[in-house]
Amino acid sequence: MNTGAASPFPGWTIIDVDHASSTNDLAAREAPWTVVRARRQSAGRGRQNRAWVSSEGGLWLSAVLPSPPPEPAAATAPLVVGLAAARALDGLGARPLRLRWPNDLMVDDKKLGGILAERPAPDRVVVGLGINVLNDPERDDASLVGQTTSLARLGLAGLSLGDLSAAILDALYRTHAVWVGRGFLALLPDFEALWGPPRPVCVTVDQTTVSGRFLGIDAVGNPRIETASGAVQVIYGPRVWQLIET
Ligand code: BTN
Repeated sequence: MNTGAASPFPGWTIIDVDHASSTNDLAAREAPWTVVRARRQSAGRGRQNRAWVSSEGGLWLSAVLPSPPPEPAAATAPLVVGLAAARALDGLGARPLRLRWPNDLMVDDKKLGGILAERPAPDRVVVGLGINVLNDPERDDASLVGQTTSLARLGLAGLSLGDLSAAILDALYRTHAVWVGRGFLALLPDFEALWGPPRPVCVTVDQTTVSGRFLGIDAVGNPRIETASGAVQVIYGPRVWQLIET
């Protein structure tokens, strides 16, 4: 039935489920511009197949985006989603927020959320986004104690998951339009302030580790690291196993 009311999610088709193993798996079967949201996930996963604790109260959603040829979408997609989520969260008053390359939403040194981009078919990319809201991952997994935060802890316990989703999907729709219309380069300046001041990091690539200060990203999203000698090393992002702030 068409009630005549404007959708709070213009441009998107929303599929809500009570429970999913992983919303990324459900979204992988859907067409571009579909979003799958679950109240909880039993096998949520993060980058490098790490477990992602997803009990009720958090935002667990996966959006299907059309891959923008010819850009290497898998490499820049999590960054684009991170930028969109950061814009939306800032608009909702979640501060101080920063990004940690490649896929973490951070408040100081605590993780508020993460992004997992996967490419189930050449023509689309699934971007999964998890944000701690009323849930407490540290209660579910003791190994996370001291490492996470939530919107509730930032004073936003009253924010509904519906309003949060709407703000994020609106920002993602707009940011995606710039990404495909003008290219990743057009978004680059917007990232600068989001990385925060250069932080000491250790980057594991293949069998080696590069230590230095994280300066930001290059034109295609690769991390730029200033080593102790003062040289700036650009590390090929898809080969990075992990980046740890030290
Ligand atoms: C990370 O920080 O490594 C990424 C975490 C991504 C979690 C989200 S929750 C919704 C979607 N479904 C998943 O299984 N993972 C992503």
